[in-house]
Amino acid sequence: MDVLADLTSLRERCRNWRAQGLTLALVPTMGYLHAGHLSLFDHARTLADRLVVSVFVNPTQFGPNEDLDRYPRDLERDTRLAAEHGVDLLFTPEAGAMYHPDHATWVEVPELAQGLCGASRPVHFRGVCTVVTKLFGLVRPDVAVFGQKDWQQLAIIRRMVRDLDLGVEIVGRPIYREADGLAMSSRNVYLTADERAQAPAIHGGLLRVQAALKAGEADAAKLALIFRAHLAEKLPGARVDYAEFVHPDSLGPVARLGAPTLLAVAVFLGKVRLIDNMLLEV
Ligand code: PAF
Repeated sequence: MDVLADLTSLRERCRNWRAQGLTLALVPTMGYLHAGHLSLFDHARTLADRLVVSVFVNPTQFGPNEDLDRYPRDLERDTRLAAEHGVDLLFTPEAGAMYHPDHATWVEVPELAQGLCGASRPVHFRGVCTVVTKLFGLVRPDVAVFGQKDWQQLAIIRRMVRDLDLGVEIVGRPIYREADGLAMSSRNVYLTADERAQAPAIHGGLLRVQAALKAGEADAAKLALIFRAHLAEKLPGARVDYAEFVHPDSLGPVARLGAPTLLAVAVFLGKVRLIDNMLLEV
């Protein structure tokens, strides 16, 4: 596995592979890899001849009061795990190499970025879209793989790729969960032992809503109350940032569930904000 931090070398290596007629898959990450990331690598490996993974804690997707400085990092471990999972090229740039001091160009999909996580993280998706566009420009992958835990991110990237004709196939992969149901996230490491023990209640709440829907309740407001009541009972210290029913592609609000609908939630446990979601089949 090659490890490159330099943009020109990355572009050069990918260009050589393409010149040999090889196809490229890209999995962008912010590192601190867990089994969810590794499952993306394993799948991406089956989709193309060469697998490129980026590890870059992208500063432009963090707001001023967010966790950029304390975001967990362990490049040595990430490098070992990537090598073990068939990654051909690990790209690990510094922020100063990715962004010119007078960087002035942004990619935005405002219509899909205003609600859900965008409501409390106003610059987040602009930063994601911009860095993903830059990575696509450097690597020029045939296919890029993202996790469905960040469903809003995935929907926004799909729309961006379609609208800008970027010519990259976007593949979404199911949420990877711990044995007790907690969605895997690099941020789970912030949880105290108590919070970690209670956090699976978020997934429990999603399952509770799914069961209520199966039992015939299709009113989104009532289903949202069921989720909130479940959390109030099982996770009394938690604060629900949002629990919303939306169309899976447009992310527009759904009042009554008559077609597959995404239930997307964000919950604060202490200072840690966890997201999760479930695509509800009707
Ligand atoms: O999902 C993430 O880890 C990040 O938002 C991404 C896509 C790597 C962009 O920085």
